[in-house]
Amino acid sequence: MAVRLFEAKEHASAYWKYRVSPSEKLTKNILTFFKKNSDLLGEVAVDVGCGSGQGTALLGPHFTQVVGTDISPAQLDLAILHNTAANISYRQCPAEELPFRDESVDLVTTLSAFHWFDHPRFLQEAHRILKPKGCLAILNYGLDMELSYGDCSEELNHICKEFYAALQPHRHPKLGDSTLTLYERVYNTLQYPVKEWQPSFWDRLQVSISKYIGMVQSFSAYQNLLKKDPEEAQRLSHDITRRLMSVMKVTSTETEVILGVRYFYLLACKP
Ligand SMILES: C[S@@+](CC[C@H](N)C(=O)[O-])C[C@H]1O[C@@H](n2cnc3c(N)ncnc32)[C@H](O)[C@@H]1O
Repeated sequence: MAVRLFEAKEHASAYWKYRVSPSEKLTKNILTFFKKNSDLLGEVAVDVGCGSGQGTALLGPHFTQVVGTDISPAQLDLAILHNTAANISYRQCPAEELPFRDESVDLVTTLSAFHWFDHPRFLQEAHRILKPKGCLAILNYGLDMELSYGDCSEELNHICKEFYAALQPHRHPKLGDSTLTLYERVYNTLQYPVKEWQPSFWDRLQVSISKYIGMVQSFSAYQNLLKKDPEEAQRLSHDITRRLMSVMKVTSTETEVILGVRYFYLLACKP
């Protein structure tokens, strides 16, 4: 049974507005693995659990056809609304039943979504639709994001850690203590001889404090707290925002900081 946590329109909008996409450097790592290990031309890429399409859009320039798939109509509505590329389309379907022919896809990606799927069934589907020498890229990032600003980064990160610790009890049980462990286990058990594991790849980007807070608010743990106790959720994010601004000695939530996002991922090539 799929976990359907991303269906509300407001949650989908928060995704579109606040979620980060992988940098050019990270996208290049995936494409380099694909080109190095595959002799395929790059006809079809499928991004599973694409949400509002941030990761899907990055594949557009590199493949003839790109399809983003997701179970949530609200997420897909936004992906379609913001899509500007003629070679990208979106389809609603579960990750465990992908509407593609056997051996018809060059690259299957999934960003920050695999942990929600039925893992064995998705891996079986990905295997079925991948062409021989097609590649699989399964990526996620942790909640352990870091902020840098002037000489107060250490203090900021102390506050951020309190924010994450307050959200920890509201994580969905399917996620366990850490999705990193899950991804590493999948890497270790995947029966593809050519594969690569990256446990820590830091992407750094400039964002406003409000975007950082919005991003944490889009995580499922915050959304769970918001459902259970909206006042506490609001109080927590207001308190964190106020304390970050006080340490930075700024008065606008539009003040920019450097946000460090730690990705981990596995790349693998079907024999
Ligand atoms: C955390 S979001 C990530 C979205 C996007 N890939 C990103 O990086 O911003 C997870 C997405 O996976 C989708 N999802 C969860 N379980 C799914 C399933 N079983 N089949 C298809 N999509 C699923 C959700 O609807 C949601 O859009």
